[in-house]
Amino acid sequence: MRQKQKKVGLRMEKIIVCGQNPLRGTVRVQGAKNAALPILAACVLVSGVSTIENCPDLSDVRAAVAILKRLGCAVKRSGHTLTVDSRFVSCYTIPNELMREMRSSIVFLGSVLARTGKAVLCAPGGCAIGRRPIDLHLSALRALGAQIEEQNGVLCCRANRLCGAVVALPFPSVGATENALLAAAVANGDTLICGAAKEPEIDDLVLFLNRCGAKITRTERGDLFVRGTPWLHGCRHRVMPDRIAALTVMAAVGAAGGNVMLQDAVPGHLTAALGVFCKAGCLLETGERTLRIAAEGRLNAVPFLQTRPHPGFPTDGQAAVMAMLCTAEGRTAVEETIFENRFHHVAALRQMGARIRVSGRRAEVEGVPCLHGAAVAACDLRAGGALVVAGLGARGTTVIRGVRHIDRGYEKIETCFKTLGAQIERSADSGPEQPQSE
Ligand code: EPZ
Repeated sequence: MRQKQKKVGLRMEKIIVCGQNPLRGTVRVQGAKNAALPILAACVLVSGVSTIENCPDLSDVRAAVAILKRLGCAVKRSGHTLTVDSRFVSCYTIPNELMREMRSSIVFLGSVLARTGKAVLCAPGGCAIGRRPIDLHLSALRALGAQIEEQNGVLCCRANRLCGAVVALPFPSVGATENALLAAAVANGDTLICGAAKEPEIDDLVLFLNRCGAKITRTERGDLFVRGTPWLHGCRHRVMPDRIAALTVMAAVGAAGGNVMLQDAVPGHLTAALGVFCKAGCLLETGERTLRIAAEGRLNAVPFLQTRPHPGFPTDGQAAVMAMLCTAEGRTAVEETIFENRFHHVAALRQMGARIRVSGRRAEVEGVPCLHGAAVAACDLRAGGALVVAGLGARGTTVIRGVRHIDRGYEKIETCFKTLGAQIERSADSGPEQPQSE
């Protein structure tokens, strides 16, 4: 308890935004958190040194590095490049406090098990956005030959030799696909992962593994075919750009107006979202790895926005785009189909004057002409991104607490928007931390 208080105390910061300054200029999109994390977990499989470029400096990435070190890897950061020497992996246990730092810690299960033949760890932490079970991860690993027992909340896993198999996922879970890929990459024989997730971050993980000597291909149907290899060597890999960070900047331009060029943004990763921005009245110009967005005046509501697995509209962009549409003309219905509890941002948006009705997984947003500044709190990562977007578009000053959630996934969010002309500052916060959903 004492330790927890100390930790929260250390992270007491707030972000102060004075809204309604149009955003202008050029910004480079950070490396993708959700690609970097499984790639770091994959380093455990490598009998050598991996160099990971464009690795964002985020608290979740630091948590992954702490796990790697605990497992016996030597990790060095120089700017945005991480060097992971995993020649001497010596441990198969991940302590509870490291597992609970973030959801993605569960992806170490596949790589630790495959590397050492054993893994002992508890259920992962992460943003509180729904139940988030791990049954699909476990059934995928069991299909590959793992024996898994749960004792008092601790998973004890063993696999003398993982064997290729057909892994059928009833839902394209991102994390379960990653765990199956990691275990199958070094299993004995061939694996077909049917119903695999198609998120671009999965393809980035595949690219990394193949550069390390794995043999993985995506079939025409979108399944993943893995030809097991006995061992993997190190490689140099550049993490793909973060499509959700790009979306958050785009939503901020929609909310505050302006004209921004995003560099290192891949429009092909954002197809469903680009359609939403076009319908809302934003002007878009796409290049191969650039994206320009311009917006002026009040946007139009988008009649229906539904989150879906890739290539559908991403659940991680739902909160930021909802914040943008709070001031659009007309009514937007938002349906969240991925997580059962991902509307935590609504209460704070209402404090800022938004008119939103929630019923189960549906939210009805009735556009108002303008939001006003307020003292609000981020209770999960993407809710935090949404509050920054709302604050940038709002009249007056917004004070956002719960900044530690934002720091899990956005690297120096205030610097990014300051570059674009926003009035936004981070400062120490001596006030009480707001209630949180975790
Ligand atoms: C990944 O989470 C991302 N995290 C999430 O990003 C993202 O929201 C999510 O994929 C969906 O795109 C990382 O990549 C680190 P899932 P993950 O397994 O792997 C259910 C962010 O804000 N499910 O695809 O946990 C689950 O409950 C984060 O950056 C099971 O039922 O997502 C959920 O309803 C948050 N059983 C749905 O599937 C399982 O065993 C999607 O989960 C696994 C999942």
